[in-house]
Amino acid sequence: MLIRMSKKPSKDDLPLSSDASHQLGEYLNRSLHGDCVEVLKEIPVSSVDMVFADPPYNLQLGGTLTRPNNSEVKGVNDKWDRFSDFSSYDRFTEDWLSSVRRVLKPDGTIWVIGSYHNIYRVGAILQDLGFWILNDVIWRKTNPMPNFRGRRFTNAHETILWAAKDKSSKYCFNYDSMKALNDDLQMRSDWLFPLCTGSERLKSEGKKAHSTQKPEALLHRILIAATKLNQIVLDPFFGTGTTGAVAKRLGRNFIGIEREEDYVKLARQRINRVKKIAEDELLASVTKRELPRIPFGWLVEKGMLEPGQTLTDIRRRHLAKVRADGTLITADFRGSIHQVGAKVQKAPTCNGWQFWCIEEKGKLVPIDTFRQKLRADLH
Ligand SMILES: C[S@@+](CC[C@H](N)C(=O)[O-])C[C@H]1O[C@@H](n2cnc3c(N)ncnc32)[C@H](O)[C@@H]1O
Repeated sequence: MLIRMSKKPSKDDLPLSSDASHQLGEYLNRSLHGDCVEVLKEIPVSSVDMVFADPPYNLQLGGTLTRPNNSEVKGVNDKWDRFSDFSSYDRFTEDWLSSVRRVLKPDGTIWVIGSYHNIYRVGAILQDLGFWILNDVIWRKTNPMPNFRGRRFTNAHETILWAAKDKSSKYCFNYDSMKALNDDLQMRSDWLFPLCTGSERLKSEGKKAHSTQKPEALLHRILIAATKLNQIVLDPFFGTGTTGAVAKRLGRNFIGIEREEDYVKLARQRINRVKKIAEDELLASVTKRELPRIPFGWLVEKGMLEPGQTLTDIRRRHLAKVRADGTLITADFRGSIHQVGAKVQKAPTCNGWQFWCIEEKGKLVPIDTFRQKLRADLH
């Protein structure tokens, strides 16, 4: 059943954002009502930066599941999750994936979340359509639903496929932001989050308003990982609008499409309550590669370090003298801060900025501190 999108703007829709609105006009920052394949035909080609999709799982549940105390388990048994067989699910998957591929920019990425019921089928179709899988992230649930019948393992995770539009796409990955989020350790592909519960879970007449509302924390990580401020995120299976709520808070634009009218209303009200974090400075993801390059020689030219000054490492095992041309010299070697750092340690490479220090009032200060001061002056 195809439902045409209602073009009439709702009072609950957000005002359009400035820079991207020229291309997407009436679709931007709105929760659109309709079938995603139909609505996407109206969205301009190559216009969105990232897609997050949480499609029906095709759980194929039969009968009623009860707990040991005979209470009924409220699983996912909605009509939107019913398909007659695997091939009809595959046709549906190919249709919506082709539609989002058309509107995704060449350097854009897509994230698709699913369970063992559908994710392998989705993964194969993604690859057949030309997407290039970058990671399969495991969302491990801290509070999964137990396996009440005790006939299988507790199903405690979902898989999120992250793919670029093409093998050659220059996609956005905010590596340094991810590392910072993870206490300065490289972010891994296994993520630990609870299911969406408590006050975050939308309720209608005292019951869950939607059976599969995703946690905002998951979307926060995804948007910070793979988008920049003001970019455009599409969610073709918007449900309660989790993607839109997090996108708004983080200063990203969104387009949400949802087929069930009740969910559309819920999403609009929810997103209207969200406030964008006020300062863009707090939202921009600055990668180290984007920071202005500071040659070591500038420190010498600017008199922050003197020719002849001695540098040492944090354990005071090696000494080198600064030369007027911004290179270092030891008894055996000469070269850049990185080359000499590597040679004295007999290491293949060395980040000289972090390795070399100067002594100030009895304390060792990494030369990187001077680089940061210079960078701050450049702003
Ligand atoms: C798994 S839920 C998404 C939940 C959402 N991520 C959230 O946090 O609330 C899938 C949603 O897709 C919607 N849906 C199913 N088929 C659709 C279609 N062809 N076009 C648009 N929405 C569809 C369903 O109504 C359902 O709300």
